[in-house]
Amino acid sequence: MRRYVIAGNWKMNMTPKGAEALIGEMKPLVEGKNNCDVVLCVPAIDIPAAVEAAKGSNIKIGAENVHFKASGAYTGEISAEMLVEAGVEYVVIGHSERRQYFGETDQTVNLRTLAALNAGLKAIVCVGETLEQRELGYTETLLKYQTKMALTNVTPEQMNNVIIAYEPVWAIGTGVTATADQADEGNGYVRAAVAEMFGADIANKTVVQYGGSMNDKNAAELLSKENVDGGLIGGASLKPAAFAAIVDAAQ
Ligand code: PGA
Repeated sequence: MRRYVIAGNWKMNMTPKGAEALIGEMKPLVEGKNNCDVVLCVPAIDIPAAVEAAKGSNIKIGAENVHFKASGAYTGEISAEMLVEAGVEYVVIGHSERRQYFGETDQTVNLRTLAALNAGLKAIVCVGETLEQRELGYTETLLKYQTKMALTNVTPEQMNNVIIAYEPVWAIGTGVTATADQADEGNGYVRAAVAEMFGADIANKTVVQYGGSMNDKNAAELLSKENVDGGLIGGASLKPAAFAAIVDAAQ
């Protein structure tokens, strides 16, 4: 009953020209793969080029962040309205790199999520534990806390536009992937938190992705797990063949 969502997260890679070329290569490889949503979340400066390049294809374009205020004196920030007007449909919120390097907190993740949802964007909200937190035995507590904080004041109707990405921090960009069972378990904690807030029905409909060194080799096994409804993919989303193979695994 849940539809897979395979989303790339380019991070701070690709110029606008590079974006155009990469999407041009990717388009034929994912064409007709309609059993999942295919999304590329790109740097803000690349958005116009990416939207143009993806026209007429099944690739949807996402942003990597959104500010929580509608407008005003927030130098360097980008509002949800700006993203929508530019043709963006998804936005990554609360990625661990933003939490680690840019002062993102559970409160600002929540505010950004609300701003995105109120503007009609689909929010890809990231949660995940560090290795230290895992070793201390806090994974379940932390994932549930981050999930609940992020979704505070979200309405049941808005949950249709919420995707949660479980991304263990120790697995991001490290080449160390969570085992399929660890991914399933982490995603299960996230789903349980959604159930505690919104009930089992909404929890069963909510798309929960896994992210962290997902690639063409391990995607099929990860995606075979009951609680894994897709992937948020960094490194492999910059390689058209690898990304297309992940999309294939979701068919
Ligand atoms: P990775 O990144 O696939 O390169 O580990 C995942 C992410 O940060 O979303």
